[in-house]
Amino acid sequence: MSPAIGLALDRVEGRAKVSGTARYTAELVLPGLVHAVLVGARIPSGRVIAIDTGKAERAEGLIAVLSHFNLPPIPGKPRLLPSLVGLAAPGESFFPMQDEVVHYAGQPIAIVVADTIERAEHAASLLRIDFAELPAHTVLDQVRDQAYEPQRIFGGMLPGRNSRGDVEAGLAQAKHRIDQTYRISPNHHNPIEPSATTVVWDDVDRLTIYDSTQGPTATQMTVSNLLGLAPGQIKVISEYVGGSFGSKAMIWPHVTLAALAARQVQRPVRLALDREQMFHSCGHREEQEQRITIGARADGRLTALRHHKLSLTSPFDDWAEPSLQSPGIFYDCANYEGVYRLARGNTITPTFMRAPGEASGMFALECAMDELAELVDIDPVELRLRNFAKTDPSTGNPWSSSGLRECYQRAAELFGWDGRDRAPGTRRDGQWLIGTGMAGAAYPHAVPPNQQRARARLYADGSAVVEAGVSEFGTGVTTAMRQVAADGLGLPVDRVRFVGGSSDLPNITAAVGSAGTGAVSAAVHLAATELRNQLIVRAVADQQSPLHGADPATVTVEDGRMRLHDRAEVGETYAAMLARGMTPDVEALGVWTPPPLTTPYGMHTFGAQFAEVAVDADLGLVRVRRMVGVFAPGRVLNRKTAHSQLMGGMLWGMSQALLEATLMDPRTGRWANPSLGDYLIPVNADAPDVVVETIEVTDTVVNPLGVKGVGEIGIVGAAAAIANAVHHATGRRIRKLPISLEDLL
Ligand code: MOS
Repeated sequence: MSPAIGLALDRVEGRAKVSGTARYTAELVLPGLVHAVLVGARIPSGRVIAIDTGKAERAEGLIAVLSHFNLPPIPGKPRLLPSLVGLAAPGESFFPMQDEVVHYAGQPIAIVVADTIERAEHAASLLRIDFAELPAHTVLDQVRDQAYEPQRIFGGMLPGRNSRGDVEAGLAQAKHRIDQTYRISPNHHNPIEPSATTVVWDDVDRLTIYDSTQGPTATQMTVSNLLGLAPGQIKVISEYVGGSFGSKAMIWPHVTLAALAARQVQRPVRLALDREQMFHSCGHREEQEQRITIGARADGRLTALRHHKLSLTSPFDDWAEPSLQSPGIFYDCANYEGVYRLARGNTITPTFMRAPGEASGMFALECAMDELAELVDIDPVELRLRNFAKTDPSTGNPWSSSGLRECYQRAAELFGWDGRDRAPGTRRDGQWLIGTGMAGAAYPHAVPPNQQRARARLYADGSAVVEAGVSEFGTGVTTAMRQVAADGLGLPVDRVRFVGGSSDLPNITAAVGSAGTGAVSAAVHLAATELRNQLIVRAVADQQSPLHGADPATVTVEDGRMRLHDRAEVGETYAAMLARGMTPDVEALGVWTPPPLTTPYGMHTFGAQFAEVAVDADLGLVRVRRMVGVFAPGRVLNRKTAHSQLMGGMLWGMSQALLEATLMDPRTGRWANPSLGDYLIPVNADAPDVVVETIEVTDTVVNPLGVKGVGEIGIVGAAAAIANAVHHATGRRIRKLPISLEDLL
């Protein structure tokens, strides 16, 4: 039996998804269900003076209008926690509808409940709300002089400043210097399935929450905390989630508001956000600018790197996506300083968005390195190899695994980089200016700080079920975990089911930071091997088993049959043994204790991105012609889903480079393009030829299977490779995202 791990299997739930039979949270049919609509503030700052409900109350089907005027305050206080570890994870340290103050446009100020969604929306449109408006600040330019340096950022997880060596001394030694600022527009996740929550209270004060979430336990713990309920009173079910990308990693206020509404009206309540509400209800990648200062010797070796980020955050939280993390360890440079600065504005707290930090930070660094390559007149790949970090420069520790050098080499080979003409603006194809560019990629390998659990159960018919409270939001975890469990148990894949998506199952951290598959595969692997070992021990102790008396270490399992390693004819199936013992099932728990934060290894995932663009010489239109990405994500559990994740990341990087921007209108303090019609994302016709490969590196540090994850690394560096290719094509450096045709006219 050859291993299932690594096979390119189709998604288990693929057919249900594409045929429309998969039921998402907002599609569940429940008896007595009523519908809640959130009403958001029209103004970005001020107070709610009055809500006139007169007309709404006469509307057909209306059940309730809830606001701070008639809702009791919640007992809990939201606090942005250091990380998502299966604990409460509110998206911001603020909970709406507790008083009349408006901090940002779209902040929930009322909930309208009616018997149908249409009637709820209609009644909501009849509310007359009086606001007293105050001046608001919604863009960096309005508040940059009030910027401050936070102690810690990212929910307290990371320090606001990091340094080593002496940057000024390093710059003094430099022959060449780059000092540039890169600006990045706000971005929104826009998963195809908008967030939705359905809540059912039973008559003994227990509630079931169906939620579109990245972590059922995170939802359970957040609502428990905010409503002052015991966790055991709350069950969260999240069977299908239609994408997330970080927008459903934190548990935003609408989830708890749905629970409050359901309690208030004593009916099951569904609250589904519409597309526009998604733009101010679930966080976003914040508006930011990054200044990079590099000093280098004549040969291109770095003597200093300074990376300063300024970004806009909410009135409540010191949130910045950690854009300085990977750039700070990517090159061998003794003198480094990274500093975050924040300015407060009238916005919801920003949040994780695919490759949080690295998608923006590596863009800035890798564009600056391209500028340096041009200045020093060295090939960009060669410049990176000259500054290659053989160990983690922030600690001197070895990498748990790297593969970066191989990624550069393989990607350059696949792309045909050798012999590239270094002078920009020299290649032409009719009206198109042609250019190529490249960039490195890195993403930190996050390990959860607590134990991760999964359960494996073998039935007497020889089939198995493996369970963990993980959310399947498109990552392919449901499929990959069958493969892991099948190998651990010695069963064919089609004899194993994986069940996740419920807070009643063994606790697994919310799947964030590319850590989901690593964490859950570790627990599943341990559960499966633990169960196999138990079954073998049972067989050798069973006088009626052909394996009786054998040393368990000499027994192997193949295709559900235990047998002696060196005598295949001596053995029996799991099923035969359990049937004889009248045992319906046997189960085991797998408990994985992740390596501690003090582990003396640098843990990162690496990759390399190459792109070719064509720029219309007259119109400035940029078309990406091809992309090559080679990544070293450790063990790949399913080649097909991993490939899709990486390719999706690369295409998103193209989108980040050329299309995506949420535009703030500072006059109204509201997003100007909160729809999929106005927020530009690529369609199939924009997709270039994309080549994705992985370099398999062995990693014995990160987790038992050496899985480093593929969720984020695919986007990292892609925008830089494209921006560098645009420069190569046109000779123009566009130091902002997205690069639009106006920039190139
Ligand atoms: Mo991921 S952007 O950390 O949910």
